[in-house]
Amino acid sequence: MRLNSPRMTVIYNACMKASKSLIRDFGEIEKLQVSSKGPGDFVTAADKRTEKIIIEELLKAHPDYGILSEEIGQINKENLDHRWIIDPIDGTLNFLNGIPHFAISIGYEEKGEIVCGLIFDPIKNELFFAEKGSGAFFNNSRIRVSQKRKIKNSILLTGGPKFNSPIKNDIFQEYIKISNLVDAPIRKFGSAALGMCYVAAGRFDGYWEWELNYWDIAAGLVILKEAGGFAEFMNYKTTNTTKRNVLATNSSIQEELKSALLKKNIE
Ligand code: IPD
Ligand code: CA
Ligand code: CA
Repeated sequence: MRLNSPRMTVIYNACMKASKSLIRDFGEIEKLQVSSKGPGDFVTAADKRTEKIIIEELLKAHPDYGILSEEIGQINKENLDHRWIIDPIDGTLNFLNGIPHFAISIGYEEKGEIVCGLIFDPIKNELFFAEKGSGAFFNNSRIRVSQKRKIKNSILLTGGPKFNSPIKNDIFQEYIKISNLVDAPIRKFGSAALGMCYVAAGRFDGYWEWELNYWDIAAGLVILKEAGGFAEFMNYKTTNTTKRNVLATNSSIQEELKSALLKKNIE
């Protein structure tokens, strides 16, 4: 670890402790896939177990800090000046199916701005982290976004709804439209948090996904920014005001990709 600020150390320790339990739980999934009950309840329990370990560790360090975490909701909710934003497992559907692509995501927000964040893929042992003003890191190395300037030379990442309602289905249709019109290969891996990191590390040039929750991308925002990338929330057919439509790129293709996506919305 190149960053050793006290806050980063707290996040790192909480994440490493939780990841041990998460790796063990992932090992159980394969057995459960073949059982008649399936892994559903076990995954919910694993999610809660991971979250509990993270929250206990963070509260030990700062009992008064606010917390927004996916499963438990809010703790110390009056403290908006200092707040942890947690997604204990981002990529649950992958986790549930034994697909090794998911992550723990912990961000630290100060007066509304994410200033420090860490995202850990425990199976590939890939750690992404950043602190405002200190650059972004992948394991022990500094990372930078890609240098690509044109969509046509890029590789892009998106996500997608589980299309289980008419509204979601509409959005899903838009994804298909966009995918057909954007002139670049597009992938879909199922973890928003890792999506942000992959753009930060230059593996992808851009990522967009609609209707995300804040905890999906909070830590990713500072990691991407410190790597030289740019993320914005697009005001685009929002059906739920607590959700965010994220467009995140290496900066250079931001405008081109944005107009491509907006154009599809008007058609
Ligand atoms: C999900 C993942 C997925 C995205 C979904 C999110 P979860 O988070 O980030 O990539 O497409 O919108 O809800 O449920 O696995 O924490
Ligand atoms: Ca998530
Ligand atoms: Ca989650």
